[in-house]
Parts: sequence; structure tokens; C-alpha cells
Amino acid sequence: MLAILGAMDEEIELLRADLQQSETLTPPGATLYRGVLDGVPILLAKSGIGKVNAAMTATHLLNAGATRVIFTGVAGGVHPELRVGDLVVSTDLVQHDVDVTALDYPLGTVPGETAAWQADPELREVALAAAREVEGVGVLEGRVASGDQFIASREGVGRLWTVFGAACAEMEGAAVAQVCAKAGVPFVVIRSVSDTADHDAQVDYRTFMPLVARHAKQVVRGMLARL
Ligand code: ADE
Repeated sequence: MLAILGAMDEEIELLRADLQQSETLTPPGATLYRGVLDGVPILLAKSGIGKVNAAMTATHLLNAGATRVIFTGVAGGVHPELRVGDLVVSTDLVQHDVDVTALDYPLGTVPGETAAWQADPELREVALAAAREVEGVGVLEGRVASGDQFIASREGVGRLWTVFGAACAEMEGAAVAQVCAKAGVPFVVIRSVSDTADHDAQVDYRTFMPLVARHAKQVVRGMLARL
């Protein structure tokens, strides 16, 4: 079954409102909804913020029968071409806050794990086609950098661009990617840009997050029509 995951209410509430035949599952620490959206049986969940919440909720979704996972939400734009409202479809994901360099592992690498988790090619393609249908926004394919940090400085955003080649910064995607990759479950992350992760990020995030979260949801519905 297809699973759709977002970190915050704003990122899933419009999908939840339209979910038919909805049934609520309550595994420890999470609430999952099983139902039908646009004729497609899905699981839907809000993870909460950060990598631990995201990994836990993704694990519950897999236990509930998820065989494909779409993460939808907002991000700070890192790629210089990205503007507020634009969409990013993940190529791959990294955990930018992991630092085991003292033991000679490259920055961002969890010992024993891949340096970057690859999003599923078919889900990427479907997400891109759906994203290109959203009017008035740019669409970029790129690397999503996740960490338990809200990036809000020129130095922070510069580091993600130069060290990781990231397109955008958020706080959950790579944790979901790690869980899905371990289970062999295909995934993709779709993010709309709420801010550009610089010194204006807090203000921009609060202003634009509820507005641009709609774009990512439009992409999800476009994907449902194609899957
Ligand atoms: N989500 C939205 N904007 C973000 C930022 N600047 N840093 C981390 N996560 C975000």
C-alpha cells in the first residue's frame, strides 16, 4: 500500500480531510490513518518534527503494510535558483548533521550505512510529472539534506551547498529514506520551498509555510492520479 507522510498538520491536513473510509491506527507514539484518497488505498501519517520522529513513524507505516512511501512537506531552499514556492523532488538524501569524521568517516556518513539514500526512479518520475503541473512554480530535482536543525544563516546554507551539494534543507526526509532503504521499500521526498534557509528564514517560514505546503500536496494528488 502507498503511504504518505508529512511532518506537520499543515502538511497533511488537506489530504486527511479528503480521505474516505478512514480508519485510525494508533501504534505507540504515532497516529496513522488508513483510507482511500482519490480512489487509491493509502496510509497517511504525521510524523512530527525531526529525524527520530520521522524514523519511528516510517517504521510504523512499514509495519502497517506500506510498500511505497511519499514524504511531502516544506523545506529551506539551498540551491541558488530556488525561490519561495518552488518544488524540489528528491534525487537522493543525506544526513548533514552526522559527524563521525574523528573516526575517518566522511561528513554525513553514518558508519556502516551508505553516504546518501537514493530515491526510487519511478516515484521520482511520477513526482516530477505531477510537480510540473503545479502552475507558477519552479521544479528542481536535487539532493535533500536532512538534520535536526532549522537552517537560518548564510553560513549554514552555504555549508549545505558546498559540502553536500544539497538542493534543500529539511528535518525528516533522510531518516525516512534510511528506514525505507533498509526495508527495501521505494520512497521519494517532495518539498516546497518555504524559505531560503538564510537570515530571513524564520520570518519567511512562518509567513509562507502554510501557503506553500499546498504545492507539495498538489503534487501528491497528481501522483495519485498516475500511480
Ligand atoms: N524546513 C523549512 N525550512 C527549513 C529550514 N530553513 N531548515 C530546516 N528545515 C526547514
